[in-house]
Amino acid sequence: MTLILGIESSCDETAAAVLQDGRHLLSNVVASQIDLHRQYGGVFPEMASRQHVLAIYPVLQQALAEADVDWDDLDAIAITRGPGLAGSLLVGMNAAKGAAWARGIPLVGVNHLEGHIYSNWIEAEGNHPDKTFPVLVLIVSGGHSELILMHGHGQYQRLGGTIDDAAGEAFDKVARVLGLGYPGGPAIQKAAEPGDVRAWRFPRARTKNLYDFSFSGLKTAVLRAVQRLEGQNLQVSRKLKAGAQLPAQTVADLAASFQQALVDALTEKTVLAAQQMGVSEICVCGGVSANAALRQTLRQRSPVPVSVPPLYLCTDNAAMIAAAGHYRFAAGERAGLDMDVIPNLRLF
Ligand code: KG4
Ligand code: ZN
Repeated sequence: MTLILGIESSCDETAAAVLQDGRHLLSNVVASQIDLHRQYGGVFPEMASRQHVLAIYPVLQQALAEADVDWDDLDAIAITRGPGLAGSLLVGMNAAKGAAWARGIPLVGVNHLEGHIYSNWIEAEGNHPDKTFPVLVLIVSGGHSELILMHGHGQYQRLGGTIDDAAGEAFDKVARVLGLGYPGGPAIQKAAEPGDVRAWRFPRARTKNLYDFSFSGLKTAVLRAVQRLEGQNLQVSRKLKAGAQLPAQTVADLAASFQQALVDALTEKTVLAAQQMGVSEICVCGGVSANAALRQTLRQRSPVPVSVPPLYLCTDNAAMIAAAGHYRFAAGERAGLDMDVIPNLRLF
């Protein structure tokens, strides 16, 4: 039996989790700072690191207690090295190093994106750990949109990705234009429920590389639509937050049409890659994979099974860091106490 403690603090979630044998989740604790950052309309880095300092110790204690294990039961600690905010990453890294040094526990460094990928390997509803390679991975988060062909554990071939905004970034920016608040993804999903996806015909961008995405044209199209409506209906207001003054049904239609345009673009490229690469399944991960329209559309149009983690594994968590760390630990990887955070760490 292998027990891995995962620690994650790259952005605005302080998280710790205990994972057994790379698949059974014994505990999964996430202290979210969303309420703190909401008043700023986004993550305020200095506040985030201070909040991590306050939360990290209780979160670690709770993760061990809920798993009913002690520090000395652990085989390794998996810690996010990057990418992320330097000040935030440092809090988790120092906690991990302190515990590793004090208790003589091996350390493994994990790339946050690799963590998102391995959320698909944890036993949970919609997920299974026994996969046949190659698999196609779609990462859609606040900072990344990547299409990856995975040939084996830790073996990544990048097929494409966004050439401008990440999918989550597009959700967040359009939510602001529509006056829907932060974080934008869940707000747009909710606002879109009573909306008509055919009310607006927003662009599905073409890109030079078949497997790339582009969302900035779509975002601008929504902005122009809102500006036109405001000009027509409400006299010209140049403040973007004026979207809140649009009639509720108009906002719902805009949100639904935007969401479907983005989901169509993601689905089209992903299904094409799955067909051309002959994969056994598609694994979707990252915060935007929580989106119900994306899950549904991909499942409807995919020629192969689609694995999407349950919501609590889609957004940032430490279970996924422990899962990625498990495979690195099993391959013999060990990090020294001189390991440092790398805010712009790359996966390829
Ligand atoms: O993976 P994540 O928690 O953090 C990063 O590593 O970036 O992703 C956060 C992103 C945000 O942009 C948020 O708006 C988006 O995921 N998101 C969603 C939904 N839930 C979260 N986007 C669309 N629909 C959702 N239901
Ligand atoms: Zn993330």
